[in-house]
Amino acid sequence: MEIKVFKNDEEIAEKAAGDIISLVNSKNNPVIGFATGASPVSTYKRIIKAYNEGKVSFKNVTSFNLDEYCTIPKSDKNSYYTFMHENLFDKIDIDEKNINIPDGNPANVEEFCNGYDKKIAEKGGIDIQILGIGRNGHIGFNEPSDIFTEQTYKVKLTESTVEANDKYFGSASLMPKEAITMGIGSIMKSKTIILIACGIEKAEAVRDMIKGNVTPECPASILQKHSDARIYLDEDAASLL
Ligand code: PGA
Repeated sequence: MEIKVFKNDEEIAEKAAGDIISLVNSKNNPVIGFATGASPVSTYKRIIKAYNEGKVSFKNVTSFNLDEYCTIPKSDKNSYYTFMHENLFDKIDIDEKNINIPDGNPANVEEFCNGYDKKIAEKGGIDIQILGIGRNGHIGFNEPSDIFTEQTYKVKLTESTVEANDKYFGSASLMPKEAITMGIGSIMKSKTIILIACGIEKAEAVRDMIKGNVTPECPASILQKHSDARIYLDEDAASLL
């Protein structure tokens, strides 16, 4: 793991966006794994700025998103489909047909999930995967558990995750309790992983990820075993290291 502590979210965004732009400008058909949530939003703003300045084009980029809520339609204002379009895809020149976001309501869950991992492999694997981290140490929606999950699958969200995200839905009762997420195995196959964490509420999860045992009770701890995991933290998130 490469751990870098930055003054603030803006500095993290500059570095993370720089890593992505370098990849896109140096590879023919790059594959990027995107994440939703608050953590990558400043990075996406930087990418949009660079695109508007003519410094990068996403025409040849294929994207795969980590996860999507079940039960709500993709047109819902809180779907990750909507999030990604509003915060990034509608503002750059990525081709809609190269965008992959899990279907939260597939007719056949198993078939869909197997197909998602297969498609990632067919595209040559993910070059850079962006991640946030949950307060409970989750990555994607891989919640603390007694096993490290392998492939994309349907997951039941924990109380901690519902509590962290119900603000977007107005109340916990309105928030979906299940999601489709890439598994830990799918994430670990990415060639480079960039995990972004800001704020004091992430400090314990960050400490457990970096200093704790590698255990599915803190899913992010598996990143200790990745050959190119870059952990970008602000000072608050790094305060217990
Ligand atoms: P956040 O979520 O970026 O909104 O803090 C991260 C996560 O739960 O993985």
